[in-house]
Amino acid sequence: MVEKIKMSCIVVHKYDAEKAIRVLRKHGLLATDFKVMRCKDVVKIPTIKPLTKNVKIAFNNEDISFKETVDYFERKSIVKTYKDLVKNIPKEAMDKLPSSYDIVGEAILIRIPEEAMNYAQIIGEALLRFHKNIKGVYAVTGETYGEERLTPLKLIAGNNVEKTVYVEHGVKFVVNIGKTYINPSLSFEHHRIAEEVSDGEKILDMFCGIGGFSLTIACRKKAEICAADINPYAIKSLISSLKINKLKGTIYPILGDSAYVFSKFFNKTFDRVIMNLPGNAYRFLKYACRVLSGNGGIIHYYRFAEAINEVIFEFLRLISSFRSVVKILYIRKVIEVSPRKRLYVIDAYVM
Ligand SMILES: C[S@@+](CC[C@H](N)C(=O)[O-])C[C@H]1O[C@@H](n2cnc3c(N)ncnc32)[C@H](O)[C@@H]1O
Repeated sequence: MVEKIKMSCIVVHKYDAEKAIRVLRKHGLLATDFKVMRCKDVVKIPTIKPLTKNVKIAFNNEDISFKETVDYFERKSIVKTYKDLVKNIPKEAMDKLPSSYDIVGEAILIRIPEEAMNYAQIIGEALLRFHKNIKGVYAVTGETYGEERLTPLKLIAGNNVEKTVYVEHGVKFVVNIGKTYINPSLSFEHHRIAEEVSDGEKILDMFCGIGGFSLTIACRKKAEICAADINPYAIKSLISSLKINKLKGTIYPILGDSAYVFSKFFNKTFDRVIMNLPGNAYRFLKYACRVLSGNGGIIHYYRFAEAINEVIFEFLRLISSFRSVVKILYIRKVIEVSPRKRLYVIDAYVM
């Protein structure tokens, strides 16, 4: 049974209702949290108090005939987040519902805590109703795994979204949900690096994934970018994305192991090397140094750690074996992965 509240209101002909609502709203008398009632040719409009003299004059000026009365009105249901659409789950589960999730094109990826996992379908359906353009909702069921850094996913509502287009700062990415690495939290970092690049640079994106850095740079700068990844789905996505973006620069997508391909064939070639493989970047630093221009260039070194000092010492210790001059240009925490794990980046000029 829907609860109704006794309110003062006015009754007007349905043809005058819009005008009357406008006048009431202008004078701050419209009870905006309550639904108006329609009955045959009349409309009852709830007000927060009886009409003032000024409003009555305004109605007369607008030729609106009205009658003042009282009636019972239903509250409007206010849906601010998907949580307002989640019904019939226990309070303990309700309290654990996540407030944030990733929207990747027509898919949503959400981390549901264990306490609420039994209600995953209800949660997924609420998200589908809240976001009208979403086709499928996936629960993230574990940590990113393997060399290809894939996220384990389970479809909890809607349909499987095989391919979708995800947009970041105006750059379009074709994404194969579940088959490539994707992390919308990196969007600022993609943009930041693209802003650092100058026209004419030769860049190596050693672990390009679907091209987060490469495409963002190529959309903004006339750079030449070699973009490599071992995941064929990532390279296929990147190739598809090349066709749907307007590029200033050029991207050469390469399927293969960065350690092998570049260090063998591209000695001292690049002005900038992007090393976004945070679990393993240290293993590839010698290859990055091998391909970086002999006149010096920039390395973006991404690493997971609890504190930034660990990353700085590791970077300096390793790089000193390969190059003699190192200047750290910038250091930043990119994202908080968990309470004891952060993603950091060091931008360093290396000669
Ligand atoms: C963290 S993801 C990169 C994400 C991407 N840079 C972005 O910003 O969206 C790391 C990527 O490195 C790739 N990868 C792992 N080992 C590799 C290797 N030896 N050579 C090339 N790519 C590799 C994985 O397949 C994965 O797509």
